[in-house]
Amino acid sequence: MCGIFGVIGTSKRAATITLDGLKNLEYRGYDSWGIAVQHGGELCIEKSIGKIGQVEGLNLDPSATIAIGHTRWATNGGVTEINAHPHIGHGKHIVVVHNGIIENACELRKELEQQGIMCISDTDTEIIPHLIERELESAKDFGSAVRSICTKLQGRYAFLALHSEDQTIIAARNGSPLIVGVGEDQYFIASDIPAFLEHTKTVQYLDDGEMLITDGQSVLFTDIQTGEERSKREIEITWDIEEAEKGEFDHFMMKEIMDQKDSIARAVNQDEDQIARIADAIASAEGTFLVACGTGHKACAAAEYFFSVIGKHHINVASAGEFKLYHHFLKETSLLIVLSQSGETADVLEAMEVAASKGAKVLSIVNVQGSTIDRLSDDTLLINAGPEKAVASTKAMTGQMAILLLIAYALRNRLAEGKKLLLETASMINDMLNPRYVQFVEGIAQEIAEHDDLFIIGKGWHFPMALESAIKIQEVSYIHAEGFAGGELKHGPLALIEEGTPCIVLGGNDEVQGDIINNALEIKARGGLMIGIAPENNPAYDHWIRVPDAGSAQAIVNIIPVQILAYFLAVTRGKDPDQPRKLAKSVTVK
Ligand code: G6P
Repeated sequence: MCGIFGVIGTSKRAATITLDGLKNLEYRGYDSWGIAVQHGGELCIEKSIGKIGQVEGLNLDPSATIAIGHTRWATNGGVTEINAHPHIGHGKHIVVVHNGIIENACELRKELEQQGIMCISDTDTEIIPHLIERELESAKDFGSAVRSICTKLQGRYAFLALHSEDQTIIAARNGSPLIVGVGEDQYFIASDIPAFLEHTKTVQYLDDGEMLITDGQSVLFTDIQTGEERSKREIEITWDIEEAEKGEFDHFMMKEIMDQKDSIARAVNQDEDQIARIADAIASAEGTFLVACGTGHKACAAAEYFFSVIGKHHINVASAGEFKLYHHFLKETSLLIVLSQSGETADVLEAMEVAASKGAKVLSIVNVQGSTIDRLSDDTLLINAGPEKAVASTKAMTGQMAILLLIAYALRNRLAEGKKLLLETASMINDMLNPRYVQFVEGIAQEIAEHDDLFIIGKGWHFPMALESAIKIQEVSYIHAEGFAGGELKHGPLALIEEGTPCIVLGGNDEVQGDIINNALEIKARGGLMIGIAPENNPAYDHWIRVPDAGSAQAIVNIIPVQILAYFLAVTRGKDPDQPRKLAKSVTVK
């Protein structure tokens, strides 16, 4: 979703630092951008629709020491320059960048209009600088004005505000993330850590219902309602800046696919006592619910099979956005396990609120240490995949699956066996991801790239991976891709198969192998071009993408060539796999 960046301190390069910070946030997905600087009692704004990546220089004062910026993913109001942030108040004294949705924006806008204060954009955000400016007429200072207007805002927000004559940045948060980077003689405030990772790895988190004010030398955190000071821990981030860069690769997506050479082993390397404790919690809970959004949700669905086949334990899987109504089944003794790469997904946070309201415990499996989901959980397992920047999740997802498979083994007191299997799998993936293999998959992508429809089938734990394969292909290549359980084909989708329609078959040496081959033959008989992803070849396949035999970790292995295929389908069709149109990496609105 929207990216936010602000900087204040002694450096006279605030505008350029903000430009670079926003470029680091490009991966979140956006359609317009803007930057404001404060200098000599004036606020200057530059904004534009389109991409910020190519922007080399700005028409803003190059010696300003305070700046805020924003990459906008349109929600309220179309993609126009006027709707791009920052937004300025009627007296030109306050500029604001904002992430989230102000639900009572219409009422507040009417109230402002009645007082002759007109908004020029269609955004909910624009009311914030107007409200602050109106409040400043009676408030004792900038901070009090911001505090006061926050109590009027309903909905989720994270915003930065800049005053034309005050050498401070004020930030406020309710529901959308904001993180402070503590630099030398400089403070950064951003919606995500990679924005300022090149400047500092020391961070402090602003929590919901809090605001902060910084002059670049220190930062004061307070409670929005009471004004009471809040003390904050400084947390050292373990990510390296290199991990957040593309390095030798053209795109983050391919870099992150390749990172799976070692990210799975890192995910598996969990504290064994903690895994055993979590397995006990699942065994004793009266109902365990596994919940996430998007790709994470497909990892949950695969884990349902892990828990059933390996752990011999039933768990319930739900999409986080659908979890609200599950409160009917929740009680104090229930357990909610949430998965999230970003640790900031709004629907997941809502699911956690639902569970907490019933007194149920929440465990999270997240990639971003210190993220909101991590901090609000009773217990957290970190995926340790390093920063994931491509919108399409790859390494975070296989890490999540590896952890869930490990827990399934732990449920049967077979943790050591599960760990051994997963570490062997990680090593086989390392061997598999060689240049020849990647090139082979690229060749298949080139052959099928012109097709408008593509189908993927799987059975057992390969079924959720068929759904995940469809997401991967849709989001980066814009091919209409759909995943099905092999047996479902005959109930409708088979009618869509035409001569040469590409169809991927996910298989393994498992108890459903014979069934999925039969399903593949049915499609082949109706003209489908069959691409098998399995440890062994079969006459049903027109193309075979070999994968190592990974036993009960097969679903984790099989998704990797699909990720490579999706990447090359996007590149071959001239699409940018890192920033799919209309999508965002971190979905912080419901
Ligand atoms: C977006 C991303 C997906 C991700 C989903 C959930 O749609 O593009 O890659 O799976 O959000 O995000 P989370 O950060 O909670 O895993």
